Amino acid sequence: MIFTYDDYAATAEFIRSHLEFTPRIGIILGSGLGPLADNIDNPTIIPYHDIPNWPQSTVWGHSGRLVIGTLEDQPVLVMQGRVHFYEGYSMQQVTFPVRVMQLLGIEVLILTNAAGGINTSFSAGDLMLIEDHINLLGHMGQNALMGPNDERLGERFPIFTYAYDPDLRRQVIALAEHENIPLQRGIYLCLSGPAFETPAEIRMFRAWGADAVGMSTAPEATVAVHGGMRVIGVSTITNIAIDHQAVRREVSHEEVLKIGAKAVPRLMKLLRGVVREL
Ligand code: HPA
Repeated sequence: MIFTYDDYAATAEFIRSHLEFTPRIGIILGSGLGPLADNIDNPTIIPYHDIPNWPQSTVWGHSGRLVIGTLEDQPVLVMQGRVHFYEGYSMQQVTFPVRVMQLLGIEVLILTNAAGGINTSFSAGDLMLIEDHINLLGHMGQNALMGPNDERLGERFPIFTYAYDPDLRRQVIALAEHENIPLQRGIYLCLSGPAFETPAEIRMFRAWGADAVGMSTAPEATVAVHGGMRVIGVSTITNIAIDHQAVRREVSHEEVLKIGAKAVPRLMKLLRGVVREL
């Protein structure tokens, strides 16, 4: 199914009809990070299944609702749960919510995710500010911007030199230093999943310059940049990716959720600071 401008506009209008104010900031919560939404004040909650054309999360660890309210007195729209390409959705469906946010007038999109650490200096539980991404999925023929381009949404050949807003990155780094929140920085590599990687793949991705791997975020960032939003990305390193068959450890979705949950207070502190300064 190909969505048109009118589909995005209709859903934006549906959401607007539930609100008394206009959110400026969008936040997408990744695996295990849903509890962050409990920090939103005066929330209006809209289940995804009530929203026209909105894709439904099928993965456990992702609830499916929009929580719209204030955080640090700033109006925010929080997606508690996202959908992934591996669930069988098209790239247009995966990124549908971002287009709707664009038409709602959201200016800054904060993307969070769970990721596997590739950089050997990372530990499970670390937070990583995304400095740039490798959208492998996109460049293998699954780019969210493929298909007819509607100039009202963005240009045909958008520039991606500064996908993750440099000023906002500087702001996040300064804030983390000021508040003593340990923060790694690195390159996020987006794969389709749902299979975890082989050790040979992990070694190759490391050689490419990736610091973390995951199954989301890059498609959403791609559409957000195309749509003129400023993007911030933060990964929770929920596990260290296995780079050799002799490593006697296994990664699991349970572990991803458990370590993700542990990082919630630190990530919340960081997000509060970021939102306060926007
Ligand atoms: N690989 C891919 N995606 C992930 C991982 C991983 O190791 N951990 C959390 N999301």
